[in-house]
Amino acid sequence: MLELAPSILAADFADLGSNIKAVEQQGIKYLHIDVMDGKFVPSISFGMPVIASLRKTTNMIFDVHLMIEEPERYIQEFAHCGADIITVHAESCNHLDRVISQIQECGCKPAVALNPATPLWVLDYVLDKLYMVLIMSVNPGFGGQKYIPYATEKIQALKKKITEQKLTTLIQVDGGVNAGNVQEVMNAGTDIAVMGSAIFGKDISGNIQKIKKAME
Ligand code: DX5
Ligand code: ZN
Repeated sequence: MLELAPSILAADFADLGSNIKAVEQQGIKYLHIDVMDGKFVPSISFGMPVIASLRKTTNMIFDVHLMIEEPERYIQEFAHCGADIITVHAESCNHLDRVISQIQECGCKPAVALNPATPLWVLDYVLDKLYMVLIMSVNPGFGGQKYIPYATEKIQALKKKITEQKLTTLIQVDGGVNAGNVQEVMNAGTDIAVMGSAIFGKDISGNIQKIKKAME
């Protein structure tokens, strides 16, 4: 069963607490939290104080997507402020194996994200250590972009590798996913679909119902 992970980047920051309650009430387990540093990606979002405040309001699984340079400098702090899953970008780590261990040592679940143009083989030697792989289906940095079609075959290829190696690694897709293509990413082998603009907005529960219907 495909799980949804609403990305708070598209939420109303003046009303963040109630936006999160609204998704939680729909039975959603994961909350996708996009941290951007203005260097790895063009834009800047938010950081530890926001996550620490939200941690006090919900028991949802905090899925923290770090779109930052040198993430190894901040792993401990993100673990401390309430992350459950920490995702780093393969492109931003000089020593990816070490960063994965660092995340585990902090008591969090390690995940690695790949930009659209990054091949799957960069994970060949670490795949068995990962809780999750995030396939970016847009170039990271902004919400509301269009899904890049070749992400689907990348998800299929990753699913094949995971199955062949009898691993339990989850596949997450992030960027441009909505009711119109959720069925496609689900059939390709996605376990968790991140959605920002498709979920947040005026009618959060209505949006989620619509997406769930499209998954049937
Ligand atoms: C993009 C972020 C995404 C973003 C997705 O760089 O990583 O999580 O919030 O937003 P939508 O679903 O609107 O593409
Ligand atoms: Zn994200």
